[in-house]
Amino acid sequence: MLKITFAAQTIPGQAALILTIGDKGLLGAQGKKLDIKLGRAISRAIDASHFTGGVGQTLTILAPAKTRLSRIVLLGVGDVAKLDAGACTRIGGAVVAGLAGKDASAVLLVDDFKGLKIAVGEAAAQIGFGARLRSYRFDKYFTKQKPEQKTALKTLAIATTDASGAKAAYAALDKIADGVFLTRDLVSEPANILYPETLMQQARALKDLGVKVEVLNTQQMKKLGMGALLGVAQGSANPPYLVTMQWNGDATAKDKVPVCFVGKGVTFDTGGISIKPAAGMEDMKFDMAGSAAVIGAIKALAGRKARANVVGIIGLVENMPSGTAQRPGDVVTTASGQTVEVINTDAEGRLVLADALWYAQETFKPRCIVDLATLTGAIIIALAHEYAGLFSNDDVLSDQLTKAGTAVDEALWRLPMGDAFDKMINSPIADMKNTGERGAGSITAAQFLQRFIKKGVAWAHLDIAGTAWQGKDKPLSPKGATAFGVRLLDRFVFDNFESK
Ligand code: BES
Ligand code: MN
Ligand code: ZN
Repeated sequence: MLKITFAAQTIPGQAALILTIGDKGLLGAQGKKLDIKLGRAISRAIDASHFTGGVGQTLTILAPAKTRLSRIVLLGVGDVAKLDAGACTRIGGAVVAGLAGKDASAVLLVDDFKGLKIAVGEAAAQIGFGARLRSYRFDKYFTKQKPEQKTALKTLAIATTDASGAKAAYAALDKIADGVFLTRDLVSEPANILYPETLMQQARALKDLGVKVEVLNTQQMKKLGMGALLGVAQGSANPPYLVTMQWNGDATAKDKVPVCFVGKGVTFDTGGISIKPAAGMEDMKFDMAGSAAVIGAIKALAGRKARANVVGIIGLVENMPSGTAQRPGDVVTTASGQTVEVINTDAEGRLVLADALWYAQETFKPRCIVDLATLTGAIIIALAHEYAGLFSNDDVLSDQLTKAGTAVDEALWRLPMGDAFDKMINSPIADMKNTGERGAGSITAAQFLQRFIKKGVAWAHLDIAGTAWQGKDKPLSPKGATAFGVRLLDRFVFDNFESK
């Protein structure tokens, strides 16, 4: 695990030095001094390369003469007048990506530039945050890693003129990163290790942070009439759970529970009797990413002691084919009393969410609900892996979420809903069916969920099937589980529900 520290501005004697450089190769005060000391090695390296100092660019000068530094990494920060928190986070991520090598420690010198708008302490903290986020690794199952396959970098000291301001700002960011890392761990775990019971235990562990955790088992869910969730679970030997996590960070608030987050927690999705093809089915261990994001967000909020009251609810099931599995054509009765014809047992996420959403409203009467789910392959057809789909009955909530997503580089794109789509899930035998027609698969899934939202409740659904896992490295996450949603939800709470 990469340790981030903050220190006063110095140039280290040994190890690696990372030096911030502005647009067009602009050197700051410290950089200029060092450049002269090194016989202009820095400016000559910039002249000799395509490095321009753009955001996140790096250029490495190995074993520079006249110093004992192992290397100097020039780190582009772009136009310093435009530097904001988000750019700093991305820059921090670029440091880790560009620093693969032998050094166990490095010093990142945040240089002084004229015209900086962001406070230097805040900039340093965001750089540290980005570095930590990008340093994530899930390598616990390798038993034979060679040294060059492991990351050497153990500590990154960020040298700034405002080390105490940076430390203070980093404290909360570090807790958010803890939430992100938990979510990535959960999403990365294979389904033989992480199944409803073990995922429930991971959620339960949040009680150490002061989160109130309650767990419903099969019997209790039966009593509540959760026939949709239980119908999905009935094919598996692993019993389902419904977990509630309450963070009450604002005792004085009028609103005891203003906002609920609900997550799809299908720990493995075979498709059930409507079984998926073999190729790529292993990816479906990530079908609990919505619930993992909710767990991580609650961990982040509790960790940084957010002054807000928030509830997270996750429905945990495994979708398996077996002699006890539900069949296409089965009709199930949901906790809301509405009935559903199960056309396709692979459209299971919406069945789980139907009962979890209903439970959230009955139990907590929230003003607003946001659900997160790896719900449809169709959202990848629409938006690839660039945006999560946003569906909502409320323009204000949509804007709040979109803004929060933009601020943390977790982009949302809103798609339409309406009666024409809603009609597509009418059934000839029950109140609705669980699949629509060929077109608009992500929208009909959202329409299905909306049938379980009560009048007057502001609701949004985030389809994260394309963004919860990335096949390529991203600025703030190595390829694999991204924890999409954790930083977004944390930011959404901070902006809209937190007493300051
Ligand atoms: N978990 C899947 C959605 C999914 C598919 C996520 C591919 C990521 C990649 C979901 O449960 C599912 O199987 N949805 C079906 C719905 C269909 C049967 C109406 C789908 O998208 O094919
Ligand atoms: Mn499915
Ligand atoms: Zn699924």
